[in-house]
Amino acid sequence: MEMKALIGLLLLAGCHGVSSVIYSLKYFITEASGVSNIPEFVGVAMLNELQMGCYDSNSQKMVLNHSWMDQCARDYPDVLKDITLRAQGYYQGMKADIERLKKRFKQTGDVHTYQFMSGCEWDDEDNATDGYGRYGYDGEDHLALDMKTWTWTVLPQQVKLDEGSAARGFLKNYYNKVCISWLKMFLTYGRSTLQRTERPEVSLLQRSPSSPVVCHATGFYPERVVVFWRRDGEELYEHVDHGEVLPNPDGTFQVSVDLNLTLVPQEDWRRYECVVQLKGIEDISILLDPALVRTNWGKTGPGRDGGVKSEITTPIIIVCVVLLLAAVAAGVVVYKKRKR
Ligand SMILES: *[C@@H]1O[C@H](CO)[C@@H](O)[C@H](O)[C@H]1NC(C)=O
Ligand SMILES: *[C@@H]1O[C@H](CO)[C@@H](O)[C@H](O)[C@H]1NC(C)=O
Ligand SMILES: *[C@@H]1O[C@H](CO)[C@@H](O)[C@H](O)[C@H]1NC(C)=O
Repeated sequence: MEMKALIGLLLLAGCHGVSSVIYSLKYFITEASGVSNIPEFVGVAMLNELQMGCYDSNSQKMVLNHSWMDQCARDYPDVLKDITLRAQGYYQGMKADIERLKKRFKQTGDVHTYQFMSGCEWDDEDNATDGYGRYGYDGEDHLALDMKTWTWTVLPQQVKLDEGSAARGFLKNYYNKVCISWLKMFLTYGRSTLQRTERPEVSLLQRSPSSPVVCHATGFYPERVVVFWRRDGEELYEHVDHGEVLPNPDGTFQVSVDLNLTLVPQEDWRRYECVVQLKGIEDISILLDPALVRTNWGKTGPGRDGGVKSEITTPIIIVCVVLLLAAVAAGVVVYKKRKR
């Protein structure tokens, strides 16, 4: 809940042009036992929504994602070494945790996942900092860090797990000092990438003649976007369904907003338009012209499989991103549904 609120706050701040920016350093770690075609352990580090690097148990190396990260690694080799060692520690630790949890829950099956998501945040205006840590077992919330007492809470029973003052001191130092100082260090390298603007491609799609028309914007950056439908110039709230903003593998984002046109005769379609607003670029609007709507039937031939679908399905090419999305799906990561 705490985490959801944090992310929600971040989005709100963005939508209303508040000048302060919240920066975050996050880790997503997945230990998977008994799955043959992916590495047993994958850790991904993110600066806001940028993937900085990835460590997996097959390569046993930290692979960095941007040239500014390579520069950072040259300037601060000890930090990268420290992070790599921590990743190796998590690999061994979470492997043992799965065995322990299997025993505790009296499980016999071989396939299990244990995920850890951790992060710290810094508001560059008022210096406020925050953080979170959560573990998920087989897709269910398992442990949450209480940042007031520096203890873990076992979910859903809400049992406190106090591992002693040394462990509490370690957590407090990590979240309040180490993580924040790393975050600021990475920011000095990644800030210009985080402040770039990438223009979305906007298209209208419809799966079948009775489906809603989907306004799909993809390839935009940053994540904060506003997409809505208008009729005769007036924003529509009814018959509109806002999807979540989702990450693309290349670091950009995509979002879909559906409009249900069941009760609208086709001759009225041209009164509608989809509008996309992104800070730093002029608004993009696209008229609901039946000729512009991409479909699975009609001209492109009936029954052509996957025509529209392939347009909006993110090509998933790298194991790191696959696991990241798995974490999202498992509900360990919660992107708050954007409500305008
Ligand atoms: C991160 O780097 C890996 C290895 O070079 C690459 O395969 C992957 O596409 C990169 N991911 C992102 C999100 O840039
Ligand atoms: C924020 O913290 C830094 C380092 O602790 C300090 O130098 C700076 O003055 C602080 N800024 C504000 C606005 O409090
Ligand atoms: C679209 O609206 C109609 C009429 O209000 C409704 O019957 C139908 O279920 C809606 N379709 C979707 C996909 O929401």
